[in-house]
Amino acid sequence: MSTRRKFTTVRSLLIAFTLLWTTSSAVPSQQSSTQTSPRKRTTQKSVADWWKHAVYYQIYPRSFFDTNGDGVGDLNGITAKLDYLADLGVDALWITPFYPSPQVDFGYDISDYENVDPQYGTLTEFDRLVSESHKRNIKIICDFVINHTSDQHPYFKESRASRDNPKRDWYIWRDPKPNGDPPNNWSSGFGPKAWTYDEKTKQYYYHYFYPEQPDLNWRNPQVERAMFNSVRFWFRRGVDGFRVDAIDLLFEDPRMPDNPVTNRLRRRSTTEYEQERKYNSAQPENFEVFRRLRGVAVEFGPGRVLIGETYPPKIDDLRAYYGEKDDAFQLPFNFFLMRANKLDAATFRRTVAETERVAGGRPVTYVLSNHDNPRAFDKFGDGQHNDEIAEILALMLLTLRGAPFFYYGEEIGMKTTEPERLEDVRDPVGKVYWPKFKGRDGERTPMQWTSGRNAGFSSSETTWLPVPPTAITRNVETMSKEPDSILNFYKRAIHLRRGSSALLNGDYLAIGDDPHVFAYIRRAPSQTMAVALNMSNESRTLKFSNQDLGGEGRGLRLAISNLARDARQTIDIRQVTLGPHEAAAFEVIGK
Ligand code: GLC
Repeated sequence: MSTRRKFTTVRSLLIAFTLLWTTSSAVPSQQSSTQTSPRKRTTQKSVADWWKHAVYYQIYPRSFFDTNGDGVGDLNGITAKLDYLADLGVDALWITPFYPSPQVDFGYDISDYENVDPQYGTLTEFDRLVSESHKRNIKIICDFVINHTSDQHPYFKESRASRDNPKRDWYIWRDPKPNGDPPNNWSSGFGPKAWTYDEKTKQYYYHYFYPEQPDLNWRNPQVERAMFNSVRFWFRRGVDGFRVDAIDLLFEDPRMPDNPVTNRLRRRSTTEYEQERKYNSAQPENFEVFRRLRGVAVEFGPGRVLIGETYPPKIDDLRAYYGEKDDAFQLPFNFFLMRANKLDAATFRRTVAETERVAGGRPVTYVLSNHDNPRAFDKFGDGQHNDEIAEILALMLLTLRGAPFFYYGEEIGMKTTEPERLEDVRDPVGKVYWPKFKGRDGERTPMQWTSGRNAGFSSSETTWLPVPPTAITRNVETMSKEPDSILNFYKRAIHLRRGSSALLNGDYLAIGDDPHVFAYIRRAPSQTMAVALNMSNESRTLKFSNQDLGGEGRGLRLAISNLARDARQTIDIRQVTLGPHEAAAFEVIGK
């Protein structure tokens, strides 16, 4: 499919606007930068702070590529696609859990922290994945789940065996209330109650997530020791860092008071009310663990990164996750852009300003899609210009200060494809809350590699989740061949970023307050770049001032655009006209 109307309809519109440009060729033209050169590395990439501005690519291994024909992706599947990922230009892969697991929560219920689930492969295959990635200068980030285990983990099996088992205190057990009710009103993230009664020992155990995911008791130092040793196990195998799961939930207030209940219905439910998680989230003791966990990472050298999954209610709360002395998470996840529910320049500008204020120069993350949330492609798309909008979002993530996280398939515009019938739902939370919430299957469908059978994902009869119908036209093979596809735009934008000191290391400065155009400058000592993202379907004219650009007599030269522009011309900074839904970056030239 030609996903583009651009070079036909939009191009003619633009010819009118581009009369402003004059000739020059210092920045590679769009055309020349489409031919991404072999993977070259700047020296910055090899130093210990590679993680600050790496481009991260999240892989959900079940859904990436299946090499053994069982309908489920595997580690060898990731290894097989490393050349694709290197060509795309990503620096690091975050791989969601592949450890042995009953797969109730598709790997976030771990039954052995130091092995690979046979359906994903073996430890030897994991080692090969690490070494093949490293050969291509791609780092490996594992996902670590330290708040809870599977109920099938030997620790929990022991813990539930008897009240006096040595592992009893590794989990959170409490007596029922005198009337038999759970110890308090805490609700689970995945269902109504966070407590399950265990007949055998006549106590309740606490689980923030599914009953099959009992919470570990982080007040017991043996728990910390065991978890940290498993972290060391993977560092020793060469992993470059961890994305640490559900970090807010480690400790609970030992008095276990009821949480305040709000008058808002839970987003997923028609009957349950939202709780303020006052006593079971973000407890002060968590932050001590983060600091000690960082100590474990530091044992393995300065280049290991810890990325924390946190959903604080207020953006200001993000600051604490870096640690008082910047000795906790290097990259706390910042999901505040993802909270926006429509494409809106003012919202993005405000959120980035707040992020910058809170981070105070520290590295930040930006992310719009992941395995727990609907994909950005259709969330922000207007149904008619989704491809252009996807490019705007890609260029935004790739040109803001900090580390962008992309989710597999985002680079080909995969959309959320929810199950149509309850019996097709795989994610248990979707079964609980159907039909108001259909679970997370929609954002976890198989990667679309080709227009062939099962989108080239698997040779199996059936795949663990169905392949979306869009795969016929929206797939890597087809879109690689279309010069103006989203995929090729991603490659160009990543390539631009890699070679730009301003985009990697420069300051961030927002420009103007146009309601439709999010524009900003990134300024490093040796280079300044200006980025302009037109989030409307009308052309818009922007004015930059000499002051914005750092001095008199400045001009702009196109570095990238998702529309057809003549890259050889210098642009008058007083009148920068953007086409509808244009995403462009310019290098500032002049004195
Ligand atoms: C995190 C994961 C999510 C998982 C949950 C429980 O939020 O991202 O997928 O279900 O933790 O481990």
